[in-house]
Amino acid sequence: ALGLKTKLLANEIYCYDLIDSTNEEAKRKALAGAPDGSLFVTEQQSGGKGRLGRSWTSPAGQGLWFTILLRSSLLPSQVASITLLAGLAVCRAVRKATGCAAMIKWPNDIVIGSKKICGILTEMAAEMDRIEYVAVGIGVNVNNENFPEELSAKATSLRLESGSFVRRVPLLQEILLEFETVLNDYPLHPESLLNEYKTQCVSLNRRVGFTRANQKMTGVAEDISPSGELIVRSDDGVLYPVYSGEVTVQGI
Ligand code: BTN
Repeated sequence: ALGLKTKLLANEIYCYDLIDSTNEEAKRKALAGAPDGSLFVTEQQSGGKGRLGRSWTSPAGQGLWFTILLRSSLLPSQVASITLLAGLAVCRAVRKATGCAAMIKWPNDIVIGSKKICGILTEMAAEMDRIEYVAVGIGVNVNNENFPEELSAKATSLRLESGSFVRRVPLLQEILLEFETVLNDYPLHPESLLNEYKTQCVSLNRRVGFTRANQKMTGVAEDISPSGELIVRSDDGVLYPVYSGEVTVQGI
C-alpha cells in the first residue's frame, strides 16, 4: 500500500477522511490490538492535539497528519530518544523531498528559518516498567497557504517555503523510510545519530528560556545528553538538564 519501502512501519494502515486525532485513534486501536508499526493517517482532524495541551490546526488536504504506533520491546527511558529520532527522520525527509533547509528545534519541532513546519507529539502507555505502546504523532504543514492570525508569525508550510506545491504521499513515504532507518540504526550507532541530530539542531549555542521548579530561567543551551535532555548553562553558571516542557529559543 502507498508504494512503501518500509519493512515494519505501516504494515497495517488505517486511513480516514476525518477523525478527532490520529493519536487518539492510535491509542484506541492499540487497546483493540493494532500491531507494532501501524500507521494512522487522516485528511483532516477535528481535535488535533499539540504538546503541552495545545491544539494543532489540521485543515483538510493541506498537511500530513499521522501517527505511528510502536509496541515492540521498549524501555520507558528510550521514549525520549524515539521522539528525537522522529524529528531527525522528518528533518532528513523534508530536505530530500523539497530541498528546504529544515532544522530541528529541540526536542522535536521542525523549523525552516524561524518558523515551524512540523510538530511531533509522542504519547506512551506503560504498565509497571513495561511500555505497552508509544504513539508518535506527526503533523507536517505541507501545502497550507495561510494560517490563523495567531499562528502566522510562527508557522509556515513547505509550499510557502519552497514556492511550489508539494506531493504528500512521496513525502510520507520518505518520512516513514527515514524513521524506520533511524529506529534500526539507533541501537547500533547511538552516538552518530546523536551527532547528526546536534548538527541539525538550532537550539544549541543559543540563549534559551526554560522553567525549573516553576521558575523561569535563562541560559545557553550547550549540549544534548545521550538520553535526549537539553543541557543548559544558566546565567549563574550552573548546568541544568532540561527534560522537555517549554523551552524558548531567542529569535525562534
Ligand atoms: C506540537 O508541536 O505541539 C505537536 C503537534 C503534533 C500534531 C500531530 S498531527 C497528527 C497527530 N495527531 C494529533 O492530534 N497530533 C499529532
